[in-house]
Order: sequence, then structure tokens, then C-alpha cells
Amino acid sequence: MTRIKVNVDGTAYEDDVEPRLLLAHYLRDRLGLTGTPIGCDTSTCGACTVDLDGQSVKSCAVLAVQADGGAVTTVQGLARNGAWTALQRAFHERHGLQCGYCTPGMIMAARDLLRENPHPTADEVRQALEGNLCRCTGYQNIVRAVLAAAEEEDTSARPEAHQVTEEATA
Ligand code: FES
Ligand code: FES
Repeated sequence: MTRIKVNVDGTAYEDDVEPRLLLAHYLRDRLGLTGTPIGCDTSTCGACTVDLDGQSVKSCAVLAVQADGGAVTTVQGLARNGAWTALQRAFHERHGLQCGYCTPGMIMAARDLLRENPHPTADEVRQALEGNLCRCTGYQNIVRAVLAAAEEEDTSARPEAHQVTEEATA
């Protein structure tokens, strides 16, 4: 066992873990953060994508011990006080999902893209999300959602989050 200290979604954790434990399993099984799904066993689908120290990573391809001393943000850590981020709202409003299994990874990868490139083209969005697979949507509405979020953040001085409205949740 190895002792790790890691901040996840703003909460500090200290745990003894097996050196072989994957970060995805640590998040889901130890911390109960099942909002980060596991969609494959070959590190190809991207469903498990989280932010580790400012960079999006596939948490099934990272050991929990590699996160020691670091900060992890999962899709569950994005909203603040019931307020979704522009990306979360855009996925909802543009119907950028069907079954939703890929959605946490899509949002975390798109978040990384918009941080690096706040004004991406549709091609750049597709390129940035090529490591994230979706079996349902055909990707069109995912790309539209990311572009809409970029536009919204641009036109509203990049607010961190927006209140979830009744119509958005209807
Ligand atoms: S579960 Fe991590 S890439 Fe598929
Ligand atoms: S919405 Fe079902 S896998 Fe993407």
C-alpha cells in the first residue's frame, strides 16, 4: 500500500492505495465519484477523462499514485452551487448527448480545448475530441455544443457558470 494525498473536486483526501490502482477506480470505487464512467478496457473511449493538474487525462490510463500531491477535477466538480458551466448548459441545450455515457469525458476534453483555444473551429473541435468516442449522437450536436459554449463564454466575458433555469431542466 502507498499513502496518497490528492485534492478531488475541491476536497482533500488521504488514502492508502495499491500501487496498481487506476485513478478511474480510485475515483469511482474509493471516493464514490461515479460521474466519471469507464467505457472500455483499452484506454480508447475517453469516457473516463478528468482534469489532473490542469491537463485532461484518461483516468483509466493513470495510476492513483501518479495523482499524489495533485488536484483532480471531475465532471462532478464543475458546477458551483447548482450552477452549470457554459459547456454543461450547451450540451444540455444543444442536445449534445443521447445515452450520456460519453458525456462526462466529452465535457472534460472540451473544457481542456476551450482553455487552450477559446475560439476553435468545428474542425478543431473534432480534432480535439478524437480521443473521445460516442456511440449515439453522430458527433454533430457535440460539436455544436462546444462551439455554442465557446461563443457564450466569449460574448459574456467568460463567466464561470450560469444558473440552471427551469426551462433548461425541463
Ligand atoms: S474508460 Fe478510459 S479510455 Fe475508455
Ligand atoms: S451519448 Fe451515448 S455514447 Fe455518446
